[in-house]
Formats: sequence, C-alpha cells, structure tokens
Amino acid sequence: MIITLDGPAGAGKSSAARSLASRLGWCYIDTGAMYRSLALIALEREISLEDSLQVARLGEALQIVFLDGRVLVEGRDVSAEIRTDRITAATRPVADAPLVREAMKNVQRKMAAGRDVITEGRDQGSVVFPDADLKVFLTASATERARRRHLEEVSRGTQATLAAVLESQSRRDQADQSRPVGALRPADHAFIFQTDGLSPEEVVDRLVGMIESLIHDHNES
Ligand code: DC
Repeated sequence: MIITLDGPAGAGKSSAARSLASRLGWCYIDTGAMYRSLALIALEREISLEDSLQVARLGEALQIVFLDGRVLVEGRDVSAEIRTDRITAATRPVADAPLVREAMKNVQRKMAAGRDVITEGRDQGSVVFPDADLKVFLTASATERARRRHLEEVSRGTQATLAAVLESQSRRDQADQSRPVGALRPADHAFIFQTDGLSPEEVVDRLVGMIESLIHDHNES
C-alpha cells in the first residue's frame, strides 16, 4: 500500500510520517531529504546546481537509504549536513528544475515498488503517486506552523525570533507554491487534514485510525 503525506513546511509531516511508518512497520520515504542530499552531493562534486541535466543524472545514480531515522547516501550518514541553512538554500534550484523532478519521480516510484510505504513531500499525491491508497494533505495555519517551528528551534538552542521564523516560512511557502512543476497543492481526492490545536500524537493517532480501517476494507475486498 502507498500512503502519501504532503503539505507545507512546518506542518509536522516528517514527525507524523516517521511515527506512522514505525507504528505500521512500513518503509518511510522522505523526499525532501532526497532533494537535500542531491544538493549536498552536487555541491561536493562541483556540479553546478543550475545544470539540471547533470543534477538529474546524479539523482538517478545516487543510492539514498532511510535507516532508523537517518539518511544514508552511498552509505554515508548525511542526516545533519542536509539540514544546514546552506543546504536548505542550495536545495531550492535543485527542486525547482523539471528535469530533476522527473528523475526523482522515477527514483521514488522504484523505491516504493512492491512495498508498503509512507512517502512524504510536496508532490507525492499530486504527481508521483496519484493512485496512492490514501493521500493526505497535512496543514496548519501559518502562525501555528511558525509557532511550532519556533518552539523546536528554541529547544535546540537557536535564538531566532518568532517573527523571523514566520518570515522565512512564508518565503518557503511562496517558493513551494510557485514551482512550475511539482508545486505544492493538495492532490485530487486528498484528505485535507487541518492540525491546528492537535498534538503530534493526536495527529498520528487519527492517521493510524484511518489507515487501519483502510487496511481492513482492503482485506475484506
Ligand atoms: O521537506 P523539506 O524541507 O526537507 O524539503 C526540502 C526542499 O525540497 C524544499 O525546498 C521543498 C523541496 N521538496 C520538493 O520540492 N518536493 C518534495 N517532494 C519534497 C521536497
């Protein structure tokens, strides 16, 4: 079975997808981490981020594995490196390039083939897996998302103000929504899940409930 989880930055997709996959014993595909890894390795190999043909080829060739919450590229743990501001910025031109998105779509489909997966990103339900068993668009108001992100950053010891978090989030929202290919939007027939006021545990519990009834119906038919 394939379950897609898309939505804007800060909606809590990653933690929900990770908990869901571990509760169900399914594979987890973090497609944001794939675009980030691609940007990191392109920079290291001195491939221009604007050279979408070379970056797309690199994307097809790289071995990316998700293991126990870590991201391994060619066996190397890049989990921390891909979350730096430098790589977040470098990922933008990579994720914007239609050729790169086409390559990553094929890689993601191959990763999911024959498996039970939770796949998380921006275009998983709308472009990569339009026939998924369940498509979820996880969202929350801009202020709620910024508030959560700000709390997270404060607990990690960074000094960012709530206003600065909100501003960088709206820049990311704008970029995600205006991408010519793979723009962030709810897929057709997606379940739009507004999570304002819900704890991460309540979000996961509700999703597990939906998936269990789906599995039940699937087994009955
Ligand atoms: O979810 P994230 O912040 O790790 O995503 C990193 C970048 O990749 C961000 O610019 C959005 C982009 N992205 C995308 O374009 N399509 C996806 N399926 C996943 C992420």
